[in-house]
Amino acid sequence: MRFIGCKLNLLPYIERLVTETLGIKEGIFCDIFAGTATVGAHFKKRGFQIISNDLLELSAAFQHALIANSTEPAFAGIIDTLGDVENADLFTPLSPYNKVIAWLNCLPGKKGFIFNTYCPSGPNEYDRQYLSDGNGQKIDAVRQQIEAWRATGDITENEFYLLLLPLLEATSKVANISGTYAAYLKQWDARTYKPLTLIPANIIRSELTHSVHRQSANDLINEIQCDVLYIDPPYNTRQYITNYHLLETIARYDNPPIHGKTGLRNYDESEKSAYCSKTTCLSALTDLVEKADAKHIVFSYSNEGILSPDEILSVLSSRGEASLSAAIDYQRFKSHAKGKKKSKSVQELLFHVKVATAPKRVKQQEKKEIRKIEPKKVYDSRNKLNDLSGSEWVYFF
Ligand SMILES: C[S@@+](CC[C@H](N)C(=O)[O-])C[C@H]1O[C@@H](n2cnc3c(N)ncnc32)[C@H](O)[C@@H]1O
Repeated sequence: MRFIGCKLNLLPYIERLVTETLGIKEGIFCDIFAGTATVGAHFKKRGFQIISNDLLELSAAFQHALIANSTEPAFAGIIDTLGDVENADLFTPLSPYNKVIAWLNCLPGKKGFIFNTYCPSGPNEYDRQYLSDGNGQKIDAVRQQIEAWRATGDITENEFYLLLLPLLEATSKVANISGTYAAYLKQWDARTYKPLTLIPANIIRSELTHSVHRQSANDLINEIQCDVLYIDPPYNTRQYITNYHLLETIARYDNPPIHGKTGLRNYDESEKSAYCSKTTCLSALTDLVEKADAKHIVFSYSNEGILSPDEILSVLSSRGEASLSAAIDYQRFKSHAKGKKKSKSVQELLFHVKVATAPKRVKQQEKKEIRKIEPKKVYDSRNKLNDLSGSEWVYFF
């Protein structure tokens, strides 16, 4: 899937740094801003034990399917109920996973939240055109079916995500957008005419136990220990939940209040990333690095990011001798009236520090004390009325 900041092209550099330069061939690798889980999946294949984390539910689909799951799923709770699947190859029986995917691909469409909100014939005042009517209804049908199987306990948690991930991937291939979901195209792109088709995810086999999380990196850091902490935060002010709101809504399928022509989902403070704000980014990174109980920290960033290389080196140096290990050129092209012209080069920066000091962690008791003296905010997440579904929610936007 196309995902801003995905490190697929950077894997050889990260691997070289970890396994060759640092000589680390095994142990616990923590991918604390996992996104598409590309980096965690790579090191899982190399025999590392993975801790993976991200704020988004869309990322949870990648993490469960690629990191937490390590075996071919049996779908024992549903496989015998599916009957014959159209187009199934008579001579090579489908694996249970392929059969469930083939069955979902044949489901007739349903008019649900995605069709109603993001398709031109759906009852939305803007006639939004993120997806064709047919594909929007197909997404609703598949999403409702896998939710029903999950609710009755007929599929396991990993099996659920092994079906959700192909749905998200398939959606990204037929969405009428130019890159992110912050806006849709005025004209229908050729890809939107293709029928939504689910393709099974790759199963990464492993004997080790891996863990996946969905929380703020700055909270999780208090609970984990690892050999390599890989930090790949957002580097600009665009929130991922805005750029990928439609996929996030398919992942959560929570009928959220949405607003405006682009149909963005509302989100609260706890869903916002401190790394996307010029005022909070440096302190968030400082806090994360100070608390890290890791032998090595590897940090990825863009040379066009909110933080300067000097600021990053200064934060990392608080834990040991830090250095810029690699600066990898990314050629960027800007569209011009007379064709495409090469513009200034963007670099992916890879920093490293071998940790030489103890982590500064706030003990649970101290945390409670701090919480007690906090002034009461208007929005209290412990208040059940603020459950993100009521009309009072709009006060925060
Ligand atoms: C640059 S992307 C990571 C890309 C990833 N390495 C990949 O290859 O796909 C940054 C990720 O950080 C997540 N994120 C932002 N703030 C976060 C936070 N405070 N805690 C955890 N994850 C966060 C975003 O949701 C996004 O997926």
